[in-house]
Amino acid sequence: MCGIFGYANYNVDRSRGQIIDTLVEGLTKLEYRGYDSAGIGIDGENDFDENSPVREIALYRQVGKVSKLKEEIINHHPDISEMFHNHVGIAHTRWATHGGVTQANCHPQPSDDNNEFIVVHNGIITNYRELKTFLKGEGFTFRSDTDTEVIAKLFKYYYDKDQDLEFYQLAKEVLYQLQGSYGLLIKSVRYPNEMIATRKGSPLLIGVKTEQKLKVDFVDVEFINDDVKDSSSNGAIRTHPPKNTMAIRKSESRAILPDFSKPIEFFVSSDASAVVEHTKKVLFLEDDDIAHIDNGELHIHRARRSASTSTTRPVHTLEMQLAEIMKGGFDHFMLKEIFEQPDSTFNTMRGRINFNKKTVTLGGVKDYLITIRHSRRYLMVACGTSYHSCMAVRPLFEELTGIPVTVELASDFLDRAPPVFRDDTCLFVSQSGETADSMQALRYCKSAGALNLGIVNTVGSSISRETDCGVHINAGPEIGVASTKAYTSQFIALVMLALQISSNVIDNRARAEEIINGLKDIPAMIGKVLSKKAHIKEICHEYLTGKESMLVIGRGYQYASALEGALKIKEISYIHAEGVQAGELKHGVLALVDENMPIIAFATRDSLSPKVNSAIQQVTARDGRPVIICSEGEKMIDKSKTSAIIEVPTTVDCLQGLVNIIPLQMMGYYLSVEAGNNPDRPRNLAKSVTVE
Ligand code: F6R
Repeated sequence: MCGIFGYANYNVDRSRGQIIDTLVEGLTKLEYRGYDSAGIGIDGENDFDENSPVREIALYRQVGKVSKLKEEIINHHPDISEMFHNHVGIAHTRWATHGGVTQANCHPQPSDDNNEFIVVHNGIITNYRELKTFLKGEGFTFRSDTDTEVIAKLFKYYYDKDQDLEFYQLAKEVLYQLQGSYGLLIKSVRYPNEMIATRKGSPLLIGVKTEQKLKVDFVDVEFINDDVKDSSSNGAIRTHPPKNTMAIRKSESRAILPDFSKPIEFFVSSDASAVVEHTKKVLFLEDDDIAHIDNGELHIHRARRSASTSTTRPVHTLEMQLAEIMKGGFDHFMLKEIFEQPDSTFNTMRGRINFNKKTVTLGGVKDYLITIRHSRRYLMVACGTSYHSCMAVRPLFEELTGIPVTVELASDFLDRAPPVFRDDTCLFVSQSGETADSMQALRYCKSAGALNLGIVNTVGSSISRETDCGVHINAGPEIGVASTKAYTSQFIALVMLALQISSNVIDNRARAEEIINGLKDIPAMIGKVLSKKAHIKEICHEYLTGKESMLVIGRGYQYASALEGALKIKEISYIHAEGVQAGELKHGVLALVDENMPIIAFATRDSLSPKVNSAIQQVTARDGRPVIICSEGEKMIDKSKTSAIIEVPTTVDCLQGLVNIIPLQMMGYYLSVEAGNNPDRPRNLAKSVTVE
């Protein structure tokens, strides 16, 4: 969804220009999370007194991409050479949820015309209408249609009520009123050189850069008995218990530096890609954490008392290399990520499969194997492409484990709230590990007492932290909005999981060995399909570009390929594409088939080939001329009745989808580029969907 970024420098001289550059660069890295508009809030220029108790705030906000914002600042900012020894700036790139793409709806959202409090927000405040009504009753006037403006105004409302509150105490008052999800950064003229960073349901991390050796490798979290009861309410605004029941005191949380008068910089971000170029030392905030960055110090407070929450936030060292997240010579991240798949699929297996002994060991689940094996059912929950990876491995899971597998779209699962049992094992599959629907589903399954397992790409993400155990797919950062390498790595991680779970079943031995041998060849097979780049591009140009709609047909293991292939095409080329189970053609979809309907059919060899061939004949008999993806050397297909053939290497039936999806990923990419779209940033979509 939206990307938020904050930068604070203390005891180190930074010019206004450098500060702006740092913020804009941060936003550029986060732009894949949303690119409807962008904005930054920094200290104003006409009140240049660092020691002033009040420091004016300048806002720069622009509809469109981050590059437009940068132009706007360069054109309108007279003096970018002024130096700040201490400074806090916050920034935002937006994916519109509440309110259209207008200047007024850009973030940072101010509390008033004086920008007394400014807020950047990722997420959705579900009770914003009630809060807005309340605040209007208190004399506030709203200028935007966003839910975020309510937050900024609540800060002002509580500040005006009690000007003695520290910034984090004020934040507690405001957060108490908010329902929904948020990652928030707040800056205020009333609290110069301070920033609040807080989250609930949206990711947020803090990078720390300093020459000093960190005193401890974690930050203590401050639990103070100042939490308020949830029960009482007075219209929209919940009332607090009397003040004297609140033991507010100055933070005693342990700080991470021996000396706060030494240079230190903080980078707060929705994800690590914007931080890694500055520092590798990061802390991941947890839900309800309120990080107070205050004149070189970092303290973490809690919005609510939560006995189950750990009391420290460790300082992690990011392994991510900057080069990993750059385009590396490709025109787009998506193309780079498609071409990385020989490596990324290998990395998913690295150190986990012993190809000589034909064994699989997933360290993250091995201690839970007995519980997993004794489950009554496996429940796979995911969204979009991640859902398709579950669909792709379900038949194998059922075959190897003999345990029923249900695959659920997280949103539908939440809508139905079906029964979940203590002896279920629930698998949450997610590239980002932050998808709100999947997270909510995880919490639902947690409350039912099931064992919860995460299959995620992003280390340190919410799903990886909140599940009992799991597998990192190790695909490396995926920046392109359309998921590609995460799909193949999720697929492999799930296959490895099925192999490990069933490794105690002697009858499976031969099948398991066949699959492990097959996995070994997958990176090279993917490489072989990638080498057909020119042929695939040509097919797109010749038969598919400019069409309004198309069908992607598959059956058995290839049904998931059809669904995922259709998603890849529609989300970036904007051509309507429908994934069809070949057996279902005759139950309705065949009515769409004529000589004008583009069709892509998966017809690689497996036990269902006769049925797939008969589906192809149903199509060609109605003058459909499909593009066929088939096994190398295939003789059974009447080529005269096809538009084109793409031959791919044959592997074990349950792994064939890993090879077959590659041409479809490439087709999506080339169709998008031919249509003049940016495949990395499809309209209306964002990489990490942290709203329900
Ligand atoms: C499609 C795509 C989305 C994601 C979905 C789930 O190319 O990227 O459909 O797969 O939003 O995201 P994660 O896997 O991060 O939970």
